[in-house]
Amino acid sequence: MLIYKSVNELQQFLTENKHKIIGFVPTMGALHQGHLSLIQASQQKADVTICSIFVNPIQFNKQEDLDNYPRNVGADVLKLESVNCEVLFLPSIEEMYPNKKYKNFEFGSLAEVMEGEHRPGHFNGVANVIERFFEIILPNYAFFGEKDFQQLAIVKALTKQLGLKTEIVGCPILREDSGLAMSSRNERLTVEQKKDASIIFEALSFIKNNYLKNNIAEHKSYFAKTISAKNMELEYIEFADGNTLQPIQNFNDTDYCVVFIAVHVGKVRLIDNVTIFN
Ligand code: PAF
Repeated sequence: MLIYKSVNELQQFLTENKHKIIGFVPTMGALHQGHLSLIQASQQKADVTICSIFVNPIQFNKQEDLDNYPRNVGADVLKLESVNCEVLFLPSIEEMYPNKKYKNFEFGSLAEVMEGEHRPGHFNGVANVIERFFEIILPNYAFFGEKDFQQLAIVKALTKQLGLKTEIVGCPILREDSGLAMSSRNERLTVEQKKDASIIFEALSFIKNNYLKNNIAEHKSYFAKTISAKNMELEYIEFADGNTLQPIQNFNDTDYCVVFIAVHVGKVRLIDNVTIFN
């Protein structure tokens, strides 16, 4: 695998491969099978797949979260090599933000709910780093996991705003055998916490399979009770339209319903989502 740390080196590689279809998989490292499935999705469409590992400081709204974000580039390189990823881009903060100037993006109501509401500035940080990556790489395709469903919608809106031709491809959530959505943050859970956290997907699946039996308020209260019984803390549960991401109060309000949650398991914040119907 080719590993580039500077924008110049990577761009020289891109110039040498200018007739090839480029697939891009941005990550913050601590790679798991979910990330590797994005690499594999890229390899289906592109001639060359570039994966980036960059823990983007400006998308963290809490210093503690940034400090505790898992980092293990050595293990990540081995994982990328195991799926034959061609290029790893490993930039420094200086390479990414040479003049430390950040833009203020406007995504309207898309960024005002759920993660946008609970993590102020988060999506602006994501938009800045993705704009910068796209400026450097100009990929034909870029791949994002559907676990970060709202991020995927924001990146699609950003690409449209910037008038880029990059096609944004959403890839399905990968889950552990227990149902827990794969996430770099899972590395910080103890064995016991991981076991407890499997109740999240169990409860979301119960809601999906029984959604017609109760109203949205009742489903929310069932989820809240299930979570607190395991000593986890619910940050939010929202039922929303899968296109606009605007919360709904009744299932009749949409024909594409997704339930979104954020839960704290000890000091670890997990998010997940399940499509109820589409
Ligand atoms: O989903 C992530 O890991 C990050 O938000 C991303 C897309 C790599 C941007 O830093």
